[in-house]
Amino acid sequence: MKFLFKPKSIAVIGASAKPGKIGYEIMDNILSYGFKGELYPINLKEIEILGKKCYKSVADVPGEIDLAVISIPAKYVPAVFEGCGKKGVKSAAIVTSGFGEVGDHETENRLVEIAEKYNMPFIGPNIFGIVYAPNNINASFGPADVKPGKLAFITQSGALGIALMGWTITNKIGLSSIVSIGNKAQIGESELLENFLKDDPNTKAILLYVEGLIDGRQSMKTFKEVGLKKPIIALKSGRSKRGAAAAASHTGSLAGADNIYSAAFKQSGVLRAIDASEAFDWARCITNNPRPKGKNAVIITNGGGVGVMATDACEDNDLDLYNDQEKLKELFFKPEIMPPFGSTKNPVDITGGGGELAYKKAIEAAYNAKEIHSIVVLYCQTATTNPDLLADYIIEVVKKNGGKKPFVIANIGGEAVETMIDKLNENDISAYDLPEKAISSLSALYRWSEFIDRNEKQGKTKPLKLPIPQIKAIIDNIRKEGRIQMLEHESKQIFKLIGLNVPPFALAQTVDEAQKFAQEVGYPVVMKIVSEDIIHKSDAGGVVVGPKNAREVDEAFNKILTNAKNYKADANIRGVFISHMVPKATEVIVGVTRDPTFGPVVMFGLGGIFVEIMKDVVFRVAPFPKEEARHMINEIKSKPMLYGARGTKPADIDALVDTIYIISQLVSQVDDIKELDINPLFALEKGASAVDARITLTEKSYPSN
Ligand code: ACO
Repeated sequence: MKFLFKPKSIAVIGASAKPGKIGYEIMDNILSYGFKGELYPINLKEIEILGKKCYKSVADVPGEIDLAVISIPAKYVPAVFEGCGKKGVKSAAIVTSGFGEVGDHETENRLVEIAEKYNMPFIGPNIFGIVYAPNNINASFGPADVKPGKLAFITQSGALGIALMGWTITNKIGLSSIVSIGNKAQIGESELLENFLKDDPNTKAILLYVEGLIDGRQSMKTFKEVGLKKPIIALKSGRSKRGAAAAASHTGSLAGADNIYSAAFKQSGVLRAIDASEAFDWARCITNNPRPKGKNAVIITNGGGVGVMATDACEDNDLDLYNDQEKLKELFFKPEIMPPFGSTKNPVDITGGGGELAYKKAIEAAYNAKEIHSIVVLYCQTATTNPDLLADYIIEVVKKNGGKKPFVIANIGGEAVETMIDKLNENDISAYDLPEKAISSLSALYRWSEFIDRNEKQGKTKPLKLPIPQIKAIIDNIRKEGRIQMLEHESKQIFKLIGLNVPPFALAQTVDEAQKFAQEVGYPVVMKIVSEDIIHKSDAGGVVVGPKNAREVDEAFNKILTNAKNYKADANIRGVFISHMVPKATEVIVGVTRDPTFGPVVMFGLGGIFVEIMKDVVFRVAPFPKEEARHMINEIKSKPMLYGARGTKPADIDALVDTIYIISQLVSQVDDIKELDINPLFALEKGASAVDARITLTEKSYPSN
């Protein structure tokens, strides 16, 4: 892939002498960005374009070609691309539109075949090109003057990518590279990350704009591997249902359910930003700063109000403010930093009269204190300070100390402050116009750092030993009957096999059996009709809750059978399910769905209104380490209900963790399970009990993993 990023020779096929045409603009950008290698315009009629000798085809080019940029109408592309292969071109960027995104997958696949035949990797089609600033490559028809920096930007959308390219120039964001991947026929974000950007010393962080991933699990693996070396920020569109539909038609990719994307990103350490401005804010902080060595942040401000705003933002973003009052006093309560009425409480308030020098001294003190791990500076424009001089002081101090700990600054004010922000950003100091942006960006850096810590602690997920042959035997029996919907006793047999706690149960065919089993499972009992023809058991009058003696079991048994026959005369009735009735407890739900992009995904949430109305649920792509199950529980908003809110007894969290974890292992090891619901799972003071269970199998049968 190095030939894509660091070509020594480029051929532009479809180069044009007419300004405004894509083939002209690409040529112009390559030249004006200072490309130092050989440039070969390919055009059927012209003799020279922008001072470079033209060739009719790549076959006529005298030297080797490392990169061919193809910008000719779609119908000519396959033959020309084949010609590139024959010539021995080492890589290509196919700008041309009109392939998979408009339904012509056949020609797109043909391009992949050619690329493979000649070992000629290519990006595109349907792209605006590629930029690699360290080697002065701008083989794109985007803006010419990309600011060199440390952020790599990979974009699936061409137009948005070009627009954001321009935006980075205005906002002084430095880029190491920009790659437009368009239809990702051969090379997508995973390949770029894995084969080049992960080890590129000129790239410190990566920003991805994605509409959909093709192989979600493989992408997660790559993201994690790369994310442990350098942070990845994702901007994923298609959050709304309508947006997802638009994204799917836009590039022909399938956008999975958005909350599953969020889970997948989180699990693989990818920082998901809500919009482009947030993504670039974070990128600014992440590329400019070192990884923090500890949690303690200090805020230095000249205004109380903005200090409070920043403190609120710290709380919202789980950022810890250093709180050793004695030490803070020792560090900052000095005449050169603040007047006697200043405050060292953190925010450290140097007060409205605090000048440039006071800021400089305070920042130096924060850099020199080993107890402080990151620095947030807030500056409200006052007549007592000169923003330009303050910027110079800050540049001086941060340049000297910047490698030691993260530094962000928010400057609030008028025009002079805007100029100050630009100046700081030009000097690779992360400057923002609002405290919330500075804090959110710093916390993104912390989240990445915590991902590395968490990953080191968790280690590798070992598969849990499950009795797969017995589970498969149950599944095979169900398939033999042509069913994919498991009956409750079958689901619960599987749960018992994998070690989940299920209330004792049995299947009775006669009243005598029912009475005997009720005695065995323990009164009171719950009784339910078992028939593959009656899915909605309650609607059919097929459920009786609470019989507490043999007589009531007798009555319930007959009532259930009569109701079932009245509901559906020809229903295949397998008997009556009898189980011990567990006393009421906090209800939670553990569910599984199989996502087309990510495979099995586990959901957890509180039952009842919390899941139905509040949608207070979290997802994880299975499998995951046990600790991740604990994070799931701690992520739901209604978690106080499990930790003993309003005088209720706390639930056995370890038992919930075990249940979620075991289910994640089951669905990772048994591909036949399409959907699974434990609803409710009773969160007991001691243990957890799978009260109701439903498993649906996939249409197709799978061999054991
Ligand atoms: N060999 C050499 N030169 C050729 C060949 C060939 N086989 N075929 C055509 N050419 C020349 C043409 O003569 C022309 O040169 P000229 O300007 O001197 O006449 C040049 O190559 C371009 O060919 P045109 O037929 O003029 O095609 P045009 O430039 O109009 O369109 C393009 C080609 C740009 C590739 C178009 O088909 C296309 O796909 N446009 C969309 C690109 C795009 O939007 N990409 C997506 C991402 S970016 C985003 O969304 C903003």
